Amino acid sequence: MTSIEHKPARRSLWAKHKIFETNSIILLIGVLLVISIGGLVEIAPLFYLKNTIETVQGMRPYTPLEIAGRAIYVREGCYLCHSQMIRPLRDEVERYGHYSLAAESMYDKPFQWGSKRIGPDLARVGGKYSDEWHRLHLMDPRLIVPQSIMPGYPFLGKTELNYSDIADDLRANRAGGVPYTDEMIAQAQSDLKAQATPDHPGQAALEKRYPKAQSRDFDGDPQRITEADALIAYLQALGTMVDFKLYDDKANIR
Ligand code: HEC
Repeated sequence: MTSIEHKPARRSLWAKHKIFETNSIILLIGVLLVISIGGLVEIAPLFYLKNTIETVQGMRPYTPLEIAGRAIYVREGCYLCHSQMIRPLRDEVERYGHYSLAAESMYDKPFQWGSKRIGPDLARVGGKYSDEWHRLHLMDPRLIVPQSIMPGYPFLGKTELNYSDIADDLRANRAGGVPYTDEMIAQAQSDLKAQATPDHPGQAALEKRYPKAQSRDFDGDPQRITEADALIAYLQALGTMVDFKLYDDKANIR
């Protein structure tokens, strides 16, 4: 016959652990305590390490028209089917372009990384297609991609953009840490108009405030500023701010 013998030291350890194993509330408190210590060790340094978000050249806050387009992107739930984060994996980089950098989302409040790819990643869709392509594709995706399952958004081109509170949008973003200046906020309405109106005299000032901002009529209707103007301006800006010729970090791709 064999018997299990506890040495005295082990027995007292067991007795201590028994407190946790026989009382669910104490166990729960113990679990929470251990997880929060682990969480603090992992997360807290990210808030003060300088290299959490690497500095890259070219990032600027969205223009008022782009930020209005971004609001429509969120309102219509585009993020439910589209991610905006290219991972450093060879197949993704070959398909979509340079993998996303943390700095590229630093002015996205909230970020649009998404969690599903029913459609392709959009992090670098800017400049990939013409405005005309986006116009038709948004109206009815099957005009361009016959087998597409993306819903059509024909109303965007017919709905005038309401931008009466665009300065407040910029202000709210500034409260969240986006470096909009007083001047950018004061000029928000006129900058928005200038960007969507061909040959508008305010475009030079806009480009000074927002380098590389693209100004033109995006929706094919120069008379009106529609929701399609804003959304296409946003899509055409995605992933275009950083010049990746300056960065050679292929070593990070797996
Ligand atoms: C039900 C899922 C779904 C939703 C919602 C959706 N899409 Fe798509 N999207 C797709 C699919 C699938 C494709 C690929 C086929 C195609 O090009 O239509 C696609 C393709 C695209 C493309 C072309 C990407 C490329 O690189 O070829 C763009 C741009 C796009 N969608 C923008 C949007 C925008 C903007 C919205 C919101 C207004 C949106 N999508 C909402 C599923 C969706």
